[in-house]
Amino acid sequence: MSSDEHRSVVIGETLADLSDSAAQSIEDAARDAVAKRGRFVVALAGGETPKPLYELLARDYRDTIAWDRVEVCFGDERCVPPHNPASNFRLAWTALLERVPIVEKRVHRIIGELGPDAAAREYDGQLRRLFAGDQTVPTFDVAVLGVGPDGHTASLFPGDAALDEQKRWAAPAHAPVGAKVPERVTVTLPVFNRARVVMFLCVGIEKRDVVTRILSGADAELPAARVFGIERTVWLLDRAVAP
Ligand code: 6PG
Repeated sequence: MSSDEHRSVVIGETLADLSDSAAQSIEDAARDAVAKRGRFVVALAGGETPKPLYELLARDYRDTIAWDRVEVCFGDERCVPPHNPASNFRLAWTALLERVPIVEKRVHRIIGELGPDAAAREYDGQLRRLFAGDQTVPTFDVAVLGVGPDGHTASLFPGDAALDEQKRWAAPAHAPVGAKVPERVTVTLPVFNRARVVMFLCVGIEKRDVVTRILSGADAELPAARVFGIERTVWLLDRAVAP
């Protein structure tokens, strides 16, 4: 389901304000999901922007979210070991997961060090087991995503084959030349588009042009323009990036 009517935009003065709003929404979604389905499945984003959100969840939501019922997934990963500073897992682990009472077997890491093809196959398997392989069921209760100045999200890059993947739930991906780690694994569009809530967290003047093109509908082919939650799609923007 892709339609603008499902998109809402929240503008905050700062990333701290946006992180507050995102954390509150995650707490509400977690409570609702656990009440209805016994678990809360969240996909975490990489990059720098979500770090304050993760730290806030660890600091202020440690006792208000049923962490023992949370299944943690990752939207994408760089093909590096988990202790590597460029690892999205490492960011989430040090900023959030090691500070809350999460059940380790419910942390579904992308094993990036296997290399893009093997890691994508392995993660495809993890996701299918988590969602009982059912192509119809919603996937993540909340998917947190970032956006790059080129309109990429997770590791779905313009012009990369992973963007057009329709069968696999996770695929090898290739960041443009110059990216920190070119070899990636990403969750694919069909899986993101079965998330109940998609939450884009995006700040910084350097992204204003692409965000304007996405939200105005001028560039509907950009990866971030093609992801919608089946219930809600929220764009959390600071003043610098807001159209
Ligand atoms: C990654 C991310 C990527 C990120 C954007 C924004 O692994 O790099 O998943 O999609 O969200 O590049 O990154 P920043 O938040 O660092 O600007």
